[in-house]
Amino acid sequence: MSLLPYDDRDGVIWFDGEFVPWREAKLHVLSHGLHYASCVFEGERVYNGHTFKLTPHTERLHHSAKVLGFEIPYSVAEIDEACRGLIRENKLVDGYIRPVAWRGSEMMGVSAQQSKIHLAIASWEWPAYFSPEARMEGIRMKISPWRRPGPDTAPTDSKAAGLYMICTLSKHMAEAEGYNDALMFDYRGRIAEATGANIFFVRDGELHTPDPDCFLNGITRRTVMDLARKRGYVIHERAIMPDELPSFSEAFIVGTAVEVTPVREIDEHRFKAGEMTVNLLKDYDALVREAGAQSAAAE
Ligand SMILES: Cc1ncc(COP(=O)(O)O)c(C=O)c1O
Repeated sequence: MSLLPYDDRDGVIWFDGEFVPWREAKLHVLSHGLHYASCVFEGERVYNGHTFKLTPHTERLHHSAKVLGFEIPYSVAEIDEACRGLIRENKLVDGYIRPVAWRGSEMMGVSAQQSKIHLAIASWEWPAYFSPEARMEGIRMKISPWRRPGPDTAPTDSKAAGLYMICTLSKHMAEAEGYNDALMFDYRGRIAEATGANIFFVRDGELHTPDPDCFLNGITRRTVMDLARKRGYVIHERAIMPDELPSFSEAFIVGTAVEVTPVREIDEHRFKAGEMTVNLLKDYDALVREAGAQSAAAE
């Protein structure tokens, strides 16, 4: 597989208030964010030159930093404007935006009260590779031995880099066995989420999704729930135990990156992308593209 490394590309990166040439957006190896995971980030999708739910993502970035005990030195409005400027500078049409904030190099140790807070925002092309029909086939998931920690064990209500350590371990483990992604349980043994997305199930024409009480209540998750309610679907947000898996007929994951993606396997359990999954996949696809087109028309 030929890779286009993320440190060797054309374009600009917004870095502490300025656009800098892509290859020059560097930080020191003695950054607290790297050693002690004092780092938070966002993942946003750009459709037709416009970020879907930009301000909710920026607000979550601010919130994640606050949960880790630091304040990003740019307001939500300033960060939104930086994202819009970056899209213009990089002439992005369909892509992805990655804001990341971290503690710098002033102090090296667990305590880092005086460290400077940095913010960088990168963007890259991310065209729609799969038509909704191609995605319908569904992904294969493997149950991870790693569990989402409880809210008294880790800052679970934040998109903090440190929380992804067990996601990468889970995903690598799943990929090594030929699966696409991993399904993680939580510290109580309940079904929680995928490594970068939330999960929904269908049983007897009704939706079931885990309570997001120890993992991200994703922006896509909430958007999909709104779309489901518009169709009159009943949604049960509740504790879901693994022994319920055989009773579900459909399963799908939702997130900024995966959008709505059907699941066809979780270990020995099989699912089909039925009417509800297909409708929500198409509704979400239409909504994000409509939002992009409307924002473009309003300019
Ligand atoms: C672990 C995890 N859960 C859920 C989500 C879904 O969140 P969102 O829909 O806001 O992208 C993401 C993606 O950001 C994630 O990384």
